[in-house]
Amino acid sequence: PKVTYVQPDGSAESYDVPAGKSLMLAAISHNVPGILGECGGQAMCATCHVYVDEEFLDRLAPLSEDEDEMLDATTSERLPNSRLSCQLICGPELDGLIVTLPEDQA
Ligand code: FES
Repeated sequence: PKVTYVQPDGSAESYDVPAGKSLMLAAISHNVPGILGECGGQAMCATCHVYVDEEFLDRLAPLSEDEDEMLDATTSERLPNSRLSCQLICGPELDGLIVTLPEDQA
């Protein structure tokens, strides 16, 4: 599935992300700036915060309690479409997904 990462300045890069891989790990493996993933994907650091394109929100796995709590601790403002990209696992239903990076992660 194709995922597009948009920087706060509007520049964008798209990658084919293998199904089963998290959007955080995929970003790290392509050196996408702005995704830190300091906790390695445990929903414990909030440095993989992204804003998800509204159109895809209802195709995502629901928020877990851990993710919900961590999203209250993001550096950039939490918005209704905020998610932790380590908790977003790529699958065919997410093809074409667009996520925007926040200004700051830490
Ligand atoms: Fe730490 Fe996602 S990588 S919360």
